[in-house]
Amino acid sequence: MDYQGLLHEVMAEALRGHGRGRVADYIPALAVADPTAFGMAIATVDGEVYGAGDWEQPFSIQSVSKLFSLALALAEGGEQLWQGVGREPSGNPYNSLVQLESESGIPRNPFINAGAIVVTDRLLELTGNAGTAVRDFLRAESRNETLDIDESVAASEALHGHRNAALAHFIASYGNLRNPVDSVLLHYYAHCALAASCRDMALAGLFLARHGIRADGSRLLTRSEAKRVNAVLLTCGTYDAAGQFAFRVGLPGKSGVGGGILAVLPGRGAVCVWSPPLDATGNSVLGVAALDALTTATGWSVF
Ligand code: DON
Repeated sequence: MDYQGLLHEVMAEALRGHGRGRVADYIPALAVADPTAFGMAIATVDGEVYGAGDWEQPFSIQSVSKLFSLALALAEGGEQLWQGVGREPSGNPYNSLVQLESESGIPRNPFINAGAIVVTDRLLELTGNAGTAVRDFLRAESRNETLDIDESVAASEALHGHRNAALAHFIASYGNLRNPVDSVLLHYYAHCALAASCRDMALAGLFLARHGIRADGSRLLTRSEAKRVNAVLLTCGTYDAAGQFAFRVGLPGKSGVGGGILAVLPGRGAVCVWSPPLDATGNSVLGVAALDALTTATGWSVF
């Protein structure tokens, strides 16, 4: 397979859509992202990595981090995580509060902000530091020791995070947080504020393509747990656009408001694409277009 040629073909196809979407501007640290930046990387199950465009430039991974906090919380604490968070699509925006009251403080799934806050709380309880737990996992899988939390992004999130604070306090009012709200939020902002490149993220996502096996050959998740994480990625990883993403791309994937999307090609590899302008659901416009072009050209899909 000529992965390099394929990436250039897919990138050219996606870039035809340039000019659509808007860069996230809810915090100044994200609003300064270059709207013309575009990178894409594929890592194969045997650890080879290919890239195109700005594939080695770090970007703010934001909600893509939620896939790693979920995997680590499951690895450390097991199935009891699911007592505090569901696994149904919410059909609502990622930062919505509306379902939490009628569903008694149990968030619909681990990828909407409410669910990710519960997962961060459990990971904090299990490891003592959810932010560095995710960082260290990404460092190990990508073999990039310089990968780190961008403290200015984390501080900016905390300053403007009224909605996340509201979600966390509301969840706490139902007894579904085990750590103090302020501490959970700081750890949530920390893992969202990790800066990593498409190269790093594609390598870090490989454990899901390898059915739970890490880069060093050790097992993070059982095969069944890895299948379940992939299933929740497919149904909830791109929020209320998950149906459209499954329709166009046909792969489990997780997006972030920094413009990154990490998708899993089970048994084959992982692909990360980055382009900052977002659609109304918070997903990268060109990122989805590139993954659509990739799976259309290759037939790679879970279907
Ligand atoms: O909670 C927030 O608002 C951000 N730190 C992460 C949101 C995000 O990336 C949603 N994804 N599309």
